[in-house]
Amino acid sequence: MQKISDILKLREIRRAWQIEGKVIGFVPTMGNLHDGHLQLVKEAKKVCDIVVVSIFVNPMQFGPNEDLDAYPRTMERDCQYLEELGVDCLFMPDAEAIYARGLEQQTFVEVPGISYMICGASRPGHFRGVATIVCKLFNMVQPNHAFFGEKDFQQLQVIRAMVQDLSMNLTIHGVPTVRETDGLAMSSRNGYLNDKERAIAPKLYATLMTLSEQIISGRRDFRQLVKEHTLFLNNAGFKTDYIEIRCVETLMHPSHEDTELVILAAAFLGKTRLIDNLPVSLD
Ligand code: PAJ
Repeated sequence: MQKISDILKLREIRRAWQIEGKVIGFVPTMGNLHDGHLQLVKEAKKVCDIVVVSIFVNPMQFGPNEDLDAYPRTMERDCQYLEELGVDCLFMPDAEAIYARGLEQQTFVEVPGISYMICGASRPGHFRGVATIVCKLFNMVQPNHAFFGEKDFQQLQVIRAMVQDLSMNLTIHGVPTVRETDGLAMSSRNGYLNDKERAIAPKLYATLMTLSEQIISGRRDFRQLVKEHTLFLNNAGFKTDYIEIRCVETLMHPSHEDTELVILAAAFLGKTRLIDNLPVSLD
């Protein structure tokens, strides 16, 4: 596996792959890799000749009171996992190279509408930071395919919208959420949980499952459903940020005719903000 920090060096090897006619897959990450990330790599390997993984903890997508400094950095272990999976190239640029003119001066990519709702409403500027870094990484790696987890469902839809709006020449793949055996969605932030919080955490997914079953069995009083499940989570020890039932494609509020839905939730356990989601098909 080639480890590269320098953007010009990346472009150089990218050119060699292009001459050889290789299909290039890309998995952007912020590191502290777990089986969720590794699943994206495995999917990329199925479709592509060359797989590039990036590790970059992107300051632009963290709010002023968020966990940028505390975000876990485990480069040595991450490298080992990627080597074992046969990744071709690990790209790990540093922030000075990425934001050479400083964060304040940085040209940004903003996907309106979808970026402002749900998680975007709780984390102003977050999806601008995500869209901007992903656009920049796409410009550097120039992949044919890029792989994102459904775990961050709104992020995936923001990226899809950006790619469509800006006519970017690549295919976006969504990969289903990888979970612990008790149902908790794998996340780098799970490491922040203490034992008591970790024991409560699977209730987030359990709640989504119950809610989904209730919708499938015919309940349409979404407001009431959300109220009940918010109360359940809060009584279990969470501080619920939101539970939303939305259209899977647009993330808009559904009408009675809509059959492809997704339930999205974010909730704090102590200082840790967990997110999860579950698609629901009524067909
Ligand atoms: P990060 O949280 O490191 O996640 C990198 C990728 O792994 C994302 O596409 C995310 O959805 C996916 N992922 C995380 N947990 C997963 C799980 N349990 N199952 C399946 N996929 C999972 O998301 C980011 O980084 C950043 O916002 C990034 C896109 C890299 C831009 O900075």
